[in-house]
Amino acid sequence: MADNIRFTLNDDPVELSGLSPMTTLLDWLREHRGLKGTKEGCAEGDCGACTVVLEQADGRRQPINACIALLGQIDGQSVRTVEGLRGLDGAPHAVQVAMAEADATQCGFCTPGFVMSAYAFAAGGEAADAETIHDALAGNLCRCTGYRPIVEAMTKVAGLPVGPVPSALAREQSAAFDGRFFAPRSLADLLTLRAQYPEALLLAGATDLGLLASRSRKPPAAVIHVSHVPELTAIAEDKEQITIGAAATYAEALPALIAAYPALKTYLARLGSRQIRSLGTIGGNIGTASPIGDMPPVLLALEASLRLVSSRGARDLPLDAFFLGYRKTALAPDEVIQSISMPRLWPGEVFFCDKLSKRRDQDISTVAAAYRLRIKNGVIEDVRTGFGGLAATPVRARNVEAALKGQPFAQATFEAAADAVLKDFQPIDDWRGTAAYRLTAAANLLRRLYWRIAEPGRAVEVEAL
Ligand SMILES: Cc1cc2nc3c(=O)[nH]c(=O)nc-3n(C[C@H](O)[C@H](O)[C@H](O)COP(=O)(O)OP(=O)(O)OC[C@H]3O[C@@H](n4cnc5c(N)ncnc54)[C@H](O)[C@@H]3O)c2cc1C
Ligand code: FES
Ligand code: FES
Repeated sequence: MADNIRFTLNDDPVELSGLSPMTTLLDWLREHRGLKGTKEGCAEGDCGACTVVLEQADGRRQPINACIALLGQIDGQSVRTVEGLRGLDGAPHAVQVAMAEADATQCGFCTPGFVMSAYAFAAGGEAADAETIHDALAGNLCRCTGYRPIVEAMTKVAGLPVGPVPSALAREQSAAFDGRFFAPRSLADLLTLRAQYPEALLLAGATDLGLLASRSRKPPAAVIHVSHVPELTAIAEDKEQITIGAAATYAEALPALIAAYPALKTYLARLGSRQIRSLGTIGGNIGTASPIGDMPPVLLALEASLRLVSSRGARDLPLDAFFLGYRKTALAPDEVIQSISMPRLWPGEVFFCDKLSKRRDQDISTVAAAYRLRIKNGVIEDVRTGFGGLAATPVRARNVEAALKGQPFAQATFEAAADAVLKDFQPIDDWRGTAAYRLTAAANLLRRLYWRIAEPGRAVEVEAL
């Protein structure tokens, strides 16, 4: 089975053969297609100079980082680059006009990326308030203009009509590119491939794995792309729980997650940027088994469980039992994470989460923490925690939980819990934070948790903007 990669680029169909499917979209655009408007800045998803837009059949326009997206991943998609923005009769597009009129560009290197983020924002019909614009621009860096005029241009383009999306070249059947990029369309095909090619890496959004191709220039030898398997992208809700397919993107999962756990709204707005959340997945966040991924602490506190599938069958495993050691998990070589299920909050339960990082946006956590408590008649009946950045894996703080459970909801109880942090963790020093900082921060977050619940509004949020 050998297929050509097909997609739509700026309204025109493209079909590629004889090219590595591990080529980044950015390299292909610039080096093969000669479209140099899309820039390379950092080559690791951080600066947004390479932003292009995926145009979905349902009308969504999603910014992505072309530097870490692989060509095989783009098969079946519709891509728009800055060269594909057109106004009437060959005039510049209204987004480009707004940027020029606001003097929102100086050296111009970052500008195509900003223009594409602004185009996606305009198409989304979102409000032009400061918070939304900040969120829409968090994945784009400008080093010389200053953001005020860029923000001004964004206020002018909000809700601009952007026209219909072009028809994509979507595929129904499983595909394989160059014998090393497998793109199954059914769970049965995925599991057969997983058993057949145990050395192939699973690939979802590539916001982690794509860095092998862009920054390290050592793309994986073979991958199985899980993002087109319906069982892995479904989002299901009932009265008891929410189930998110491991390959559903953050952008797709956010509405359900935020509706069920409102504290995730600000927390997830700081997970990467819109470009990262357009493609990144919770399955990928768990699959990396990083001790500083943002979702595992939340999912540990929510008592989430994973459905793991292989051609041998399916099993459900509490997330708590999944992380075995530094970057080591309970996933068998022939298994795939199919979905993540988390119970809804019971009446009387509260849920909070915190992310401490060096920068507000686009930064990995130094310490992340999440807490779910059930408080009844002044007593903490039940509690679950999840912490990142304090051990070799994301973990529960069992001594902290023991210090809280069954105790009166009182400041002294949370002081005891803060002291218990020392028994739970022996973190390491690294350039993000010393062990002493991490322990002090975790203890202080627990002290703050008390005030958050006891006197909402007293726990001040301090941000460097
Ligand atoms: C600029 C930038 C900013 C970022 N910011 C953050 C941040 O703020 N917080 C944060 O937590 N992360 C951040 N990340 C890391 C990354 O975006 C997340 O970890 C994301 O969730 C990875 O998802 P993905 O689908 O892109 O994974 P991929 O890169 O596709 O895969 C990651 C790993 O998971 C495995 N995997 C994927 N799907 C499955 C599956 N179904 N079953 C089993 N294994 C699987 C893969 O084999 C691979 O080992 C950032 C990355 C970049 C480049
Ligand atoms: S080049 Fe910086 S995000 Fe892609
Ligand atoms: S205009 Fe120079 S980096 Fe933005």
